[in-house]
Amino acid sequence: MNGLLSSLVSLFHANNKHQNHNQKSSAEDKFFSSVAGYGDLKKLLMKSFLSTEPIHVLLSGPPATSKTAFLIDMLNGLQDTFYVDASGTSGPGIIDRLFESKIRYLLIDEIDKLKKADQAVLLNVMETGILSETKLKGKTRQKKLWLSIYATSNNGEKLSSPLRSRFMELQLQEYDFREFAEISCHLLKKRYDMDVSLSEKIVDSVWNKMNSKNIRDVIKMGKLVSSSSDIDWLTDVQKKYGKGTVNGEQ
Ligand SMILES: Nc1ncnc2c1ncn2[C@@H]1O[C@H](COP(=O)(O)OP(=O)(O)OP(=O)(O)O)[C@@H](O)[C@H]1O
Ligand SMILES: [Mg+2]
Repeated sequence: MNGLLSSLVSLFHANNKHQNHNQKSSAEDKFFSSVAGYGDLKKLLMKSFLSTEPIHVLLSGPPATSKTAFLIDMLNGLQDTFYVDASGTSGPGIIDRLFESKIRYLLIDEIDKLKKADQAVLLNVMETGILSETKLKGKTRQKKLWLSIYATSNNGEKLSSPLRSRFMELQLQEYDFREFAEISCHLLKKRYDMDVSLSEKIVDSVWNKMNSKNIRDVIKMGKLVSSSSDIDWLTDVQKKYGKGTVNGEQ
């Protein structure tokens, strides 16, 4: 086992133990309980929930940096929310839902994939606070809204400049090795009650042998292994059949 990895993970577990015994977790850590780290970002988001005026936040960044996890915690913790996965094709239209229901926080995952017509309506809401839609026969319906939008995107540049400029954009970065090891060990313990040595080995295999920086690969491995030899075996199979990552998926 890589010496640096071992000491980092031990440090993480020591810190964790210390925190569990001696400190109560902060309000933001309680609210965003499925996301590890990002203390400053969690604080900013919590502050934004209390804003007396609508505020719009875009989380942008590479795959598997917990952007969706942030939205799901908001969906679970806030009232009057509506969550939309804009990459999906089914489900109720956002505009209809905004007309029909009391929605205070609109959570849009992968907003760059939202229909252009919906983007245009939202742009207007962000600008004026008025939801306005013109139907086919020229009939217009309108509603005054108090709406904050929290959205995600892999790349903020995929949004039109007018839409992008109305968001406070927060760019999440790809994890460095230390963050990757800490988050992976945290998740493996929480989800599969995995012990430290197996967690260390999974981190080492995914990062160093499979050359993946994607936490999803750690989780997929966590689901399948229960011993050190399982990890060696699965790593070899992945290297043989995967495209560098488990199932070749990003
Ligand atoms: N900081 C973190 N804390 C806890 N879990 C994390 C963290 N980062 C990633 N994960 C885990 O990694 C997986 C992917 O996270 P998530 O789906 O939120 O990423 P994403 O940024 O939305 O990725 P994509 O851009 O591909 O949609 C989830 O299982 C999530 O729990
Ligand atoms: Mg996502």
